[in-house]
Amino acid sequence: MWLIFFFLLWPQAAPAPSARGALDFATFKTTVEPLLIEKRPGHARCVTCHSTGTAFRLQPLAKGQTAWDDEQSQKNFEMVKRFVLPGVPAKSRLLIMPLAHEAGGTEFHPGGKHWESQSDAEWKALANWVNGVK
Ligand code: HEC
Repeated sequence: MWLIFFFLLWPQAAPAPSARGALDFATFKTTVEPLLIEKRPGHARCVTCHSTGTAFRLQPLAKGQTAWDDEQSQKNFEMVKRFVLPGVPAKSRLLIMPLAHEAGGTEFHPGGKHWESQSDAEWKALANWVNGVK
């Protein structure tokens, strides 16, 4: 009898998964998006490959445009969410595709490995966003 009572209460007692690390739009705009536009030596910009054709698809930037406007950012945000597991950077495609395999990244990313380790300042900034740290 008490056991049944326990199981009835248990689901409410466990934290709801959605409560964990909600992704913040403002941080996305100020911290994440610039990293998707940034030119790193030896690599093309993320946006150069990822605004046409690929499943991970950012809004294209017009010639001379150096940042997305709010409407475009909102669309990027909705799209990028599909490649992020809130609270778990090491399982977020956005973070592990461009991360060196030895550092916990995927084996291969056609766009190259932009970050050598999880202690890279840029990678940490992305991880903080995924973890809901502002
Ligand atoms: C030289 C071109 C190129 C660049 C630069 C590039 N990528 Fe990619 N990336 C690809 C291709 C091609 C694929 C595989 C096709 C696809 O995703 O549809 C891919 C796959 C991915 C995926 C996985 C999509 C999925 O379906 O799971 C993510 C996430 C990703 N890239 C993120 C990034 C990020 C973040 C950057 C910048 C740090 C970046 N890429 C830079 C070409 C590129």
